[in-house]
Amino acid sequence: MIHNKLKPFPDNFLWGAASAAYQIEGAWDVDGKSPSIWDEFVRIPGKTFKGTNGDIAVDHYHRWKEDVQLMADMGLKAYRFSVSWPRVIKDGNGEINEKGLEFYDNLVDELVKNNIEPIVTLYHWDLPQALQEQYGGWESRQVIDDFYRYSTTLFKRLGDRVKYWVSLNEQNIFISLGYQKAAHPPGVTDMKRMYQANHHASLANAKVIADFHDYVPEGKIGPSFAYGPAYSYSSHPEDVLAAQNAEEMQSHWWMDVYAWGKYPQAIWDYLEDNGLAPDLEEGDMELLAKGKPDFMGVNYYKTTTYERNPLVGGTGEGEMNTSGKKGTTQESGIPGLFKTKKNPNLEATNWDWEIDPVGLRVGLRRITDRYGLPILISENGLGEYDKLEENDVVKDDYRIDYLKGHLQECQKAITDGVDLMGYCVWSFTDLLSWLNGYQKRYGFVYVNRDEESEKDLRRIKKKSFDWYKETIETNGEKLNG
Ligand code: NOJ
Repeated sequence: MIHNKLKPFPDNFLWGAASAAYQIEGAWDVDGKSPSIWDEFVRIPGKTFKGTNGDIAVDHYHRWKEDVQLMADMGLKAYRFSVSWPRVIKDGNGEINEKGLEFYDNLVDELVKNNIEPIVTLYHWDLPQALQEQYGGWESRQVIDDFYRYSTTLFKRLGDRVKYWVSLNEQNIFISLGYQKAAHPPGVTDMKRMYQANHHASLANAKVIADFHDYVPEGKIGPSFAYGPAYSYSSHPEDVLAAQNAEEMQSHWWMDVYAWGKYPQAIWDYLEDNGLAPDLEEGDMELLAKGKPDFMGVNYYKTTTYERNPLVGGTGEGEMNTSGKKGTTQESGIPGLFKTKKNPNLEATNWDWEIDPVGLRVGLRRITDRYGLPILISENGLGEYDKLEENDVVKDDYRIDYLKGHLQECQKAITDGVDLMGYCVWSFTDLLSWLNGYQKRYGFVYVNRDEESEKDLRRIKKKSFDWYKETIETNGEKLNG
């Protein structure tokens, strides 16, 4: 659709940036914090790039005031951050750790004081290690009540100032990398266990969302889903069907549950036939149906292109590129369903993530069409090598191009009728990129550290910082000009 005239971004548009506790805070064992599953996992040799961990990360726990001041300088309207569960509840289901809560309380106050809307993520992957040990974490139904207690503790404490909440961040990623690929904790490769753990996570999510408005009546809550819209590699009907298989199995499997409390039928039947479907208990589907979110949070980085994959001799799991060596990603698939293909129409980053701004519009349109929910883009951004030049200059023009391209498509999507609440750039400062170390940088603010040393952790504004500041000031008016 080519519009003659674009609608402006809404006046109350949440121009934001995002982060996650484990990736920025550091202070991994300070002020009564218990270990998370990531604190343990990163110590297993060979799991992360150059053995990096978040013990210190970018030391936000001690430098949060300076970081908020930078946000204020930028004129940021919203800041999405996550709370570390093991920081605020000892061992996940023990005593409340007042010191931990105080940290987030102060952060929220400082944001509000600077007219920055806090968006709080309840769970960004750092499950308390004690819960993993007590009952296998997401594999036990006990996690549903423990997550509920943790979440409502935060609603009660921060809900008077925090209106926007994200429940689970990228459930599809932490579950599949944790239980299928063993690339995330708890490092399992078992599809049956994966679908069961996922079902419990969906129930935990629904239970918290179902009661949320009792605690924060004026608030809004939704999950953040890692959505990579599926494309067909060719117009061959079998490839189109393969892309549909992927869309249903890798996206609708979660988003249908969030929005409708239902699993997509074709995939349910496929999993049942293969002995992989989760075991349901009485009341599960009713609870899922009660957890309808106020918005769909979307983390968008790329689309994925698929073609048919034979059942016999087809392609299975391939290696991911966590080294930043372009071209090292392998094709990956499920025999009989689909396999990935490099899209010849798109450029890719050094981590082989295809750059596709139009894909964002495609995704926003698909969600609007299917679920009719408002959308918050809870993450979008470019992970690249940045170079710190003399006099503290970082010329990240490629990041500006990336963000500009995606925001242009957002404006077109708004004109198409998408109810877009806001856009959070991943990330505000540079941070630890989980498996990819510190060299894959996303921030508007360069942090002077690398894999080998924490150096001085100095904060330096990149060129993209000023660009985003101006974009916010002008409410995106010049983006399509
Ligand atoms: C999604 C995750 O939520 C975030 O933690 C991660 O660092 C970014 N994507 C980039 O990979």
